[in-house]
Amino acid sequence: MRIVLSKRLKKVASMVTGNSIADVGCDHGKLGAYLYQNKKINKVINMDISKASLDKADELMSSFKECETICRVSDGCDALNDNEVDTLVMAGLGGTEIAIILKRAFAENKKYKRYVLSPNRHPEKVRKVLLENGYGIVEDAMVKEGGIYYVVFASEKGAKIPSNNEIYYGINFRTDPVFKEYCINRLEHLNTLLLTHTNAKGIKEEIERLNSAKKELVDDKNN
Ligand SMILES: C[S@@+](CC[C@H](N)C(=O)[O-])C[C@H]1O[C@@H](n2cnc3c(N)ncnc32)[C@H](O)[C@@H]1O
Repeated sequence: MRIVLSKRLKKVASMVTGNSIADVGCDHGKLGAYLYQNKKINKVINMDISKASLDKADELMSSFKECETICRVSDGCDALNDNEVDTLVMAGLGGTEIAIILKRAFAENKKYKRYVLSPNRHPEKVRKVLLENGYGIVEDAMVKEGGIYYVVFASEKGAKIPSNNEIYYGINFRTDPVFKEYCINRLEHLNTLLLTHTNAKGIKEEIERLNSAKKELVDDKNN
């Protein structure tokens, strides 16, 4: 059976390095199966807070018996040891949730060589926790799929510390055409919202931040 990933998960897969991953919040478990099938890893620890989700992942991996597969019901990294895998993946969870999970893991002194993360919202919260713990961003991408913009980034110890706009929008936002499109659409949406929510502090702050990022776009200097 050929494993087919969404564009978002393909981008996640492309940033994995090393021979082993832990996929926290694995749900269907397609990521590990795809990486094994494409000879990128030989060990996967699938983890999920939901036993029902983990059962799906286990069932899928039963087709790939040669891959060392471990399934653990776990809240975040609670059931994972320090350095147990080369890459820790968390995709499709909220940024607030991922930030809480990372904070708890760092507090317990659990660290991994590489993190590949794709928060549904609030990527800045995730990048901030990484930076506070000495991790910078090494790869960053925005993908659009089904009309939704997703961010995917990889982090390693000692990498360059991003600027404030990079913490919000990724280290490549200045030259990324997908970000440019996102920025223009989001500003249009927020400015429309502002017509009916004139005192909305959060909306005004986001507009200000996006306009500041827009000024940094390399082909948009005169806007
Ligand atoms: C939307 S799915 C994402 C599945 C897959 N990673 C992807 O990107 O397509 C989110 C999964 O995260 C799991 N989850 C939510 N909170 C979690 C936590 N604190 N620890 C582990 N798994 C969690 C959910 O049970 C669910 O299976």
